[in-house]
Amino acid sequence: MILIDGNKVAKEIKEEIAVKAKKIKEERGRALHLAAILVGHDGGSESYVSFKMKDCQEVGFESSLIRFEDDISEKELFKAIDKLNSNPLIDGFIVQLPLPKHIDEQQVIERINPDKDVDGFHPVNVGKMMIGLPSFVSATPLGITILLKRYNIETSGKNCVIIGRSNIVGRPLSVLMSQKEMNSTVTVLHSGSKDLKQICASADILISAMGKPHFVTADMVKDGAVVIDVGTTRMPSNQTKSGFKLTGDVDFENVSPKCSYITPVPGGVGPMTRLALLLNTLATVK
Ligand code: GUN
Repeated sequence: MILIDGNKVAKEIKEEIAVKAKKIKEERGRALHLAAILVGHDGGSESYVSFKMKDCQEVGFESSLIRFEDDISEKELFKAIDKLNSNPLIDGFIVQLPLPKHIDEQQVIERINPDKDVDGFHPVNVGKMMIGLPSFVSATPLGITILLKRYNIETSGKNCVIIGRSNIVGRPLSVLMSQKEMNSTVTVLHSGSKDLKQICASADILISAMGKPHFVTADMVKDGAVVIDVGTTRMPSNQTKSGFKLTGDVDFENVSPKCSYITPVPGGVGPMTRLALLLNTLATVK
């Protein structure tokens, strides 16, 4: 069994990004600039956004964090998005999700200029990605395909089973994995699926993006399968300083001995998701 080290791959690629970022800064007279809008104080979102800002610093991008309280109106939030859309010094930006219930997330996503939508959530980017045109691709799916490629994992002709059909992970990943470059035969499992365990057990590559700790058990995994764990449920823990522990979808202890490759949580997909945002920001340079 080979443990896929997302931290190591992300570090290597970050070094490559830093070299390119320096060159861009010299040519344009300013660094690439990523902004993030954060609404409210959700613990998970706070920590994800602060990591994103730290990543920018590491590769030589400028970053700005724009914060609002939970009670911000949709109108005010749109105004902030419009400002970033029209600011020529901002290359790309994200609005961290989830947003408070009174704000329509889809409308927020659609307010973002697709050319600055480094999350790849805007329908224009999703549509381009669907038909294989250059576009910003959602960070987790992009990070996973990079990880598979860096480990030279054969994907062509393989049965790839994805658990979860979210707009952010499962659905875009199913498109990427079925495109010529990855060339897998893809099955997407979701809450309406039947025979879920059996289908998982037929997977050469099993990718779980459910968000249910320890959902994937050893009986659902074929000997020699590649297992990619996208789950990051924050479980209370008295063993960590933060008071929680990130827990994957996979029963790692019992599943890992059966795998050819497996990603740990933390340290597998997570660092690659963060890396992909940097790659998308770099890709704003035409
Ligand atoms: N919330 C969870 N994942 C993401 C992400 O990739 N981007 C944004 N903007 N919000 C998220």
